[in-house]
Order: sequence, then C-alpha cells, then structure tokens
Amino acid sequence: MLSLRALYKVSLLLLVMAATGCSHIGINESSSIFIGRYAEYMWGDMADQYADLSNPLPASAVNISYGEKLYQMQCLTCHGKAGDGDGSTGKQLLPSPANLAFTRRLPIATDTFFFWTISEGGKPFDSAMPAFGKRLSDKEIWQITHYINAGFNFEKGT
Ligand code: HEC
Repeated sequence: MLSLRALYKVSLLLLVMAATGCSHIGINESSSIFIGRYAEYMWGDMADQYADLSNPLPASAVNISYGEKLYQMQCLTCHGKAGDGDGSTGKQLLPSPANLAFTRRLPIATDTFFFWTISEGGKPFDSAMPAFGKRLSDKEIWQITHYINAGFNFEKGT
C-alpha cells in the first residue's frame, strides 16, 4: 500500500510535470531527463549527506558576486548568461542544459536540490552536467546557489 509520504511525492511530481508543461513529459529526450532528476530528488534517492541541507551563507552582495564570477567561469558555457540553457557549448548537447532561470522558480528548487545536482552532476542521468563536488568547495557551490536564486540580474542590480 502507498504510504502518505509516497502519495505526497507522487502529487509533487505531477505538480512539477504540470508546471513544466506537457512538452516535458518525455516527448523529447532533452526534457524527459529532467523528470528523471526531479523524481530521484523527490524519492530522496540521493546520498544521506544531501538530505535537508540549507545554504549556510547569508545572501549578501559579496556572496552573490562571488557566485556570479564562479557561474561565469564554470556554468555559463552550457547554461548561458541569463541561465536559460543556451550557452555556446550547451546548444550542442542532448539532453540540453536546464533553464536555470526557470528551475529556480519551481517548488523543487530547494538548497538540497541545487547542492546535490551541482555536486554530483548528470552521470546517473547520462547527461553532460559535470560533477562539481570535487572541483569546487562547498562554500563556492553555496555562493553559486545564491547567485542562481538572485535571478541572473545581479549585475544590473534588479
Ligand atoms: C558541459 C555543460 C554543463 C556545464 C558546464 C554545467 N551544466 Fe548544469 N546541466 C547540464 C545539463 C546537460 C543539464 C540537464 C541534465 C541534468 O539535469 O543532468 C544540467 C542540469 C543542471 C541543473 C538541474 C536543473 C533542473 O531543472 O533539472 C542544475 C541546478 C545545474 N545544471 C546547475 C549547474 C551549475 C550551477 C553549473 C556550474 C557550476 C553547471 N550546471 C554547469 C550541463 C552543464
């Protein structure tokens, strides 16, 4: 029998599918991968170290601006300047890079989701998303998370 927790997760998954639009229900390869990542996150299948994390750094101008520099060095080539997944390397990839400007508005965009995704990358989903867990420090990953949450307009001050 389904537990309440499982039911809750199934409804969350349906909500995300609805929010991302019907084209995201496996109609093309690039979008179906996101459902895989969301499902794995919602089923809590990632390692225990990622459970219930919250960003330990304040969302200060300094942290956001470090996050911006790191994003430009490590992520922009795939996820694009405005985070919408159209970086020059990203355009050649299938599955294509996620639209982070959109992702950050979804209920799934928790600190745990970002930290786990950025640390472990896309290997379990056969995607080109690199695992940054060994390349960046925890602090750097949290700074990038603040930058994403600030909405990609930080430079413009909006
Ligand atoms: C080589 C290209 C590439 C680079 C560089 C890259 N990514 Fe990705 N990223 C991807 C692809 C492809 C996906 C979609 C497949 C997946 O989720 O694994 C993705 C997915 C994601 C997701 C999941 C979002 C969602 O809605 O599913 C996040 C968060 C993310 N990337 C953040 C980052 C951050 C932050 C950086 C820099 C530290 C980065 N990526 C660098 C290719 C890249």
